[in-house]
Amino acid sequence: MAAIIEIKDLSFSYPDGKRALSGINLTVYSDEKIALIGANGAGKSTLFLHLNGLLNGEGQISVKSLPLIKKNLAQIRAVVGVVFQNPDDQLFSPTVFEDVAYGPLYQGLDQQTIRTRVERALCDVGLSGFSQRNPYHLSNGEKKRVAIASVLSMQPQILVLDEPTAGLDPRARRELIALLSELPQTMLIATHDLELARQLTPRTVLMNAGSIIADGSTDQILEDKSLLLEYGLL
Ligand SMILES: Nc1ncnc2c1ncn2[C@@H]1O[C@H](COP(=O)(O)OP(=O)(O)OP(=O)(O)O)[C@@H](O)[C@H]1O
Ligand SMILES: [Mg+2]
Repeated sequence: MAAIIEIKDLSFSYPDGKRALSGINLTVYSDEKIALIGANGAGKSTLFLHLNGLLNGEGQISVKSLPLIKKNLAQIRAVVGVVFQNPDDQLFSPTVFEDVAYGPLYQGLDQQTIRTRVERALCDVGLSGFSQRNPYHLSNGEKKRVAIASVLSMQPQILVLDEPTAGLDPRARRELIALLSELPQTMLIATHDLELARQLTPRTVLMNAGSIIADGSTDQILEDKSLLLEYGLL
């Protein structure tokens, strides 16, 4: 299998001095689906914000063998679609249509293709008919789904999803998991939803206090109750 993301010795501290990542090493192979689990504050979101260059720590990251450095950012952002934990960080347009169309528009696609992509992405997240709504006036779970649609519409080769099921009602959660299981993309999913990991991601990475504690088969890691208990996941 070919490595699609390689992270070597990544460390990062926030400007206030808080060290959030310490010596992270992680290789993601093409077509893998991986859950990133860990207690609040473990560093999951911080790690994800490095994957499209929004944060810039010490160490090396490469995506499809391209080093993640300034001159490669546009190319890497076309490959890695990141859905933020908080949808308010992702939505900025006056209508849902414009938010979901933003990526395809930026990719230079034609109007008809953009329209088809937007309709498809909204349908995928169960929000057909929402295109003229104002994103700020949606419920939290609806916003979350628009944020996911705004990344699906770009059809990135790698999907990075930060807590995709947080705040979704049981049906929306079930439908999202079904959708993600059908998509062929490589996926990295930060989640507290261990059932999602069981259903969707054959590999799980466990983080704690900025480090990777365990990396292996989801079945094995989720079976290890003392490990989960020790790191606040049970
Ligand atoms: N902007 C910031 N400035 C300073 N420290 C921060 C900032 N953002 C996050 N941190 C700290 O960095 C650490 C990692 O936070 P991060 O958000 O990556 O955790 P997480 O694993 O995503 O947690 P959660 O499960 O709550 O989403 C935490 O200790 C947090 O308090
Ligand atoms: Mg987080």
